[in-house]
Amino acid sequence: MRDVAVIGIGVTRFGELWDKSFRQLIAEAGSKAILDAGISGTEINALYVGSMSAGRFIGQEHVGALVADCAGFSHMHIPSTRVESACASGGLAVRQGFLSVASGMNDVVVVGGVEKMTDVVGNEATNTLATAADQEWESFFGATFPGLYAMIATRHIHEYGTTREQLAQIAVKNHANGVLNPYAQFRRAISIENVLNASMVAYPLGLLDCSPVSDGAAAVILCAADKAKKYTDKPVKIIGSGQASDTLALHGRKDICTFESTIHAAKMAYKQANIQPKDIDIAEVHDCFTIGEILAIEDLGFVKKGEGGKAIDNKITTLDGEIPINTSGGLKAKGHPVGATGLAQIAEIVMQLRGEADQRQVKEAETGLTHNIGGSGASCIVHILEAM
Ligand code: COA
Repeated sequence: MRDVAVIGIGVTRFGELWDKSFRQLIAEAGSKAILDAGISGTEINALYVGSMSAGRFIGQEHVGALVADCAGFSHMHIPSTRVESACASGGLAVRQGFLSVASGMNDVVVVGGVEKMTDVVGNEATNTLATAADQEWESFFGATFPGLYAMIATRHIHEYGTTREQLAQIAVKNHANGVLNPYAQFRRAISIENVLNASMVAYPLGLLDCSPVSDGAAAVILCAADKAKKYTDKPVKIIGSGQASDTLALHGRKDICTFESTIHAAKMAYKQANIQPKDIDIAEVHDCFTIGEILAIEDLGFVKKGEGGKAIDNKITTLDGEIPINTSGGLKAKGHPVGATGLAQIAEIVMQLRGEADQRQVKEAETGLTHNIGGSGASCIVHILEAM
């Protein structure tokens, strides 16, 4: 395997973007990444695109070809592949692009992720997202993702004494980070009282414990690491990539407070990178609901199982903490256009490692991790990145 580096990134604003179409969003993110990398179109060997459910959100399938076409590459006839793994579609697209460069098959690839979720009404968005749960055993009986994560939160509270206030503090922290991110959907600070008094979605998760329904796109350019300096002074190497799966439905797990897919994907990525959790300086994790961030920091090995709540009390995950988590605002405040999320996580870590994250810049960050979950933990992708 060859080493692989990120040489360019591009993100659109996330939000309810009524004036931008699916194809405009991915074209904007892709062209920003190409400009950032300073490559020409003729150097691109392949495209990978993460999109969870364009068929249901905008009635458009055949997304690989569509993206090659709207990016202006159809005349080059380069391979373009759509990748799907529910909310981890973006992370998996990065892994597919990474593998294709690492294998020597391609030298330069564009990996994009996009979702346009707000063209359908709320219930339809909820039902579309619920297609990533088990249709026969969960969705058919009315379980939605807020409902499934609420069960996990309830169990975590029962097992470990985690409190609603601790969950609320995660939303408060991520909104505070979102204020500093010009691409974030929500750029407003909230208080613990706001979170605790917000309308209940699925107990114990209120409106402000949930990531929103969002539109947006993000893209990165991957290149063989030995050629990266030709394009940029600040390449960022992908030193570990891991992927794992688990039962689709929650009821098949021996412990719903642990995402085994995270543990296994992380183990694979740490082993490849030859590092341990304590070596990670900064991470973007999958906080689709506040409880998701607690599970993530526990299962990634940053804190012991059951101590995720205490970590937020002790402020170790804030911007100036021991291990800043979700400096971008996370899915909670930055937004969660599902296919784009995994790419936006990589883009944030690259900005941080290049020292380009402006007001939310973390000091002395050299090694960063991204953690992208599909469904309620049935799939997980972890990447570890390091400044070259
Ligand atoms: N956080 C903060 N504010 C939110 C929000 C969120 N998650 N979701 C909506 N809002 C705000 C909207 O901006 C709007 O504010 P405004 O009145 O000032 O414009 C207001 O709340 C109502 O928005 P609306 O779109 O009507 O909310 P809703 O009740 O239809 O949806 C949720 C709220 C939480 C149900 C929806 O965001 C949701 O389903 N989130 C989870 C998405 C999900 O499951 N993703 C996959 C994870 S695996």
